[in-house]
Amino acid sequence: MLKRQIKERIYWLGGIDWDRRLFDSLIPLPDGTSYNAYLIEGSEKTALLDTVDPTKTEILLQQLSGVQKIDYIVSHHAEQDHSGAIPQVLERYPEAKVVVTPKAVGMLIDHLHLPENVFITVQDGETLSLGDKTLKFYHTPWVHWPETMVTYLEEDQILFSCDFYGSHIAAADLYVTDEGRVYEAAKRYYAEIMMPFRTIIEKNINKLKGLEIRMIAPSHGQIYDRPALIMDAYRDWVMGPPHNIAVIPYISMHGSTQKLVDHLVSALVKNGVRVEPFNLAVTDIGKLAMALVDAGTIVLGAPTVLTGPHPLVAYAAVLANALRPKAKYVAITGSYGWGGKTVDILTQLISNLKVEVLEPVLCKGMPREEDYQAIERLAAEIAGKHRDNGWQ
Ligand code: FEO
Repeated sequence: MLKRQIKERIYWLGGIDWDRRLFDSLIPLPDGTSYNAYLIEGSEKTALLDTVDPTKTEILLQQLSGVQKIDYIVSHHAEQDHSGAIPQVLERYPEAKVVVTPKAVGMLIDHLHLPENVFITVQDGETLSLGDKTLKFYHTPWVHWPETMVTYLEEDQILFSCDFYGSHIAAADLYVTDEGRVYEAAKRYYAEIMMPFRTIIEKNINKLKGLEIRMIAPSHGQIYDRPALIMDAYRDWVMGPPHNIAVIPYISMHGSTQKLVDHLVSALVKNGVRVEPFNLAVTDIGKLAMALVDAGTIVLGAPTVLTGPHPLVAYAAVLANALRPKAKYVAITGSYGWGGKTVDILTQLISNLKVEVLEPVLCKGMPREEDYQAIERLAAEIAGKHRDNGWQ
């Protein structure tokens, strides 16, 4: 992809990774992704904002051909998908300084072995003049590492947000065209990357609240020329209450847990609760993570394997524990053959979650009438709690 102009002397550069299907060897990327860098040419100085993943270095260097001088490389975030090409850019522009938060210095030295004398550190709220364009830096920790910051280009009112507000989408259109598709991709991204740091992200959102923002240019996905789309979405995901939704990650080995879950789904619907079941034998973990953003209750459906929960349900519990969604209730259901510690083990695995653990419903072998009645009581209890909280 060629360098593309956003406004006069402001350009998008970067690599579009159409084929990437996994990030961090963990996170599914069904729509690929992009690593966006931006070039800003002021009347006196030129700045490159972020670079690209190491796999796209050559493309970035081609896009920079014809650029005589780079004075500053602003590195918002030390993770290699944005910082990975800094060494090669510095080789071509040895006079450039790398502009970072104080915390990023050690991280970039560790990850890229950059020499200490290339850095300029900036404080929260500090500005850097490029002549007729001014970069203002805001420290925004935990979007997505502790050292992260964003840049506000004052004259053009563009927020360069790096991971913050990003989405994993590979697209030829520079700006958001399909808002529904981008909303979903951004939600998936938020769930997998940002959700664990919700309370800190709320502070970052509030810190940027006073800015007039005409455009948000993230380092993944398309540019928002209508920033309200993503800013409103983040406000709901981060600060809004849970929704009247029960998410049920489950698996079944011989059909017993499946029967309990099927009965629970029907009973919840009958009680007015929206339900999203995820059979972990086939589910996309990213979809489960997205559902956890809004869930009021999580119900783990686990058959007992030997003496503990089925490992795929344990995995879902570990994932939820790491992502720390805002759900307030957890329940456990499932079947067992002769005994075990499924409830104890799953409860321990979700110890990070600030939840009330409801009375579990476990059955021995195939469920009987009394087990279905217990499931109906559980559904009524969940519905009552959602109602009491006023969740929509
Ligand atoms: Fe896109 Fe946290 O790096």
